[in-house]
Amino acid sequence: MTSTLTLPEGRTLTSSWPETPPGGDPLPGQLDRWLVARGAELVAIRRHIHAHPELSGEEFETAALVARTLTAAGLSPQMLPKGNGVICDIGSGDRVIALRADLDALPLPDAKDVPYRSTVDNVCHACGHDAHTTILLGVGLALAQLAETDGLPGRVRLLFQPAEEQMPSGAPDVIAAGGLKDVSAVYALHCAPLLPVGLVGVRSGPFTAAADKIEIRLTGKGGHTARPHLTADLVYALGRILVGLPALLNRRVDPLAGMSMVWGAVRAGEAANAIPSEALARGTVRTLNKEAWREAPELITELAQAAVEGTGADLDVTYTRGVPPVVNDRLATAVVAGAAGAALGAERVVEAEISMGGEDFAYYLDHVPGAMIRLGTGIPGASERVDIHQSAFDIDERAIGHGVRVMVHTALAALSAGAF
Ligand code: NI
Repeated sequence: MTSTLTLPEGRTLTSSWPETPPGGDPLPGQLDRWLVARGAELVAIRRHIHAHPELSGEEFETAALVARTLTAAGLSPQMLPKGNGVICDIGSGDRVIALRADLDALPLPDAKDVPYRSTVDNVCHACGHDAHTTILLGVGLALAQLAETDGLPGRVRLLFQPAEEQMPSGAPDVIAAGGLKDVSAVYALHCAPLLPVGLVGVRSGPFTAAADKIEIRLTGKGGHTARPHLTADLVYALGRILVGLPALLNRRVDPLAGMSMVWGAVRAGEAANAIPSEALARGTVRTLNKEAWREAPELITELAQAAVEGTGADLDVTYTRGVPPVVNDRLATAVVAGAAGAALGAERVVEAEISMGGEDFAYYLDHVPGAMIRLGTGIPGASERVDIHQSAFDIDERAIGHGVRVMVHTALAALSAGAF
């Protein structure tokens, strides 16, 4: 079947692949035969997980399903201590490559009218983690078959992680359970609805942003607006913080660090003629740079102090850490880009955009090099492109087969690469 695809840069691509459903791929080869045999089963698994979503930290049934399926394939999965995640090694040898998927759904209603719609009120796989889980499961089953015939040149570790969507997130639990022991590189993919199905987005360097929260509380003597000199005039002091702090930050942090401080809530006073004794501002601090992220709490507290200098206001800064930025390793990115090209065709590998959203895959990258890629799940011909974290989000299920291909190739390429 011939199909035409418009690439992000506007070029049009006409090809005879892969506009067939997973399982119907005409390409020859072992992985293709495997996908022909098992592709429909993977779609069924994805639909089951989609219909039975579980919130962050409560992925017990999903983890049990993963463990059951891996056990049936002759593997020996280990549950995380809480029972809401799974770690599973395939093959043998000292070289270990890890592949990670996240299991959790979001506290959103499912607005789709499909047979696999969520059966749980206000819980929905609106971030595609059902697809991530299914793909990694498919990779595990395919690699298990390869390992049986001694076709696996090392060990591949599958990390099925709980609680990606909340803080504290589940990645540190996986690491504490030994998930990265002996691992030389770690890889993951994320559904990308704005990328057409059939394409994969890769990028070396910054990939997603750190996302921290900041709360600034000012206290001081209130009073009549007729006599501001007898007060700490917190409304004025807060105004200096609101405008001055982001501006000062932009003068102290390299613009290339992509740091962005934005206020989301501001509160001070009630009456027009009364200066309050308390004022508050809340916002987020995002950055694409690890160094800038590490230094942010101290720097921001110092600059907030400078912004209220001389007003008499007392300052209290509460800085709450979110996830670090995901910064893809150059060599790991080269490996995954090459593998994606081998799996799908080089013309289907495009440059991924940077996202200012957060992703807890960053915790793994604090320990070992690795890379995250975007898997095109955009549905061709859809009247509207529904982004992740929206109630009507869905994927083009052909992406499951693509994801399996790319990650199997990635594992094999990374095990063979001398760099790790
Ligand atoms: Ni996600």
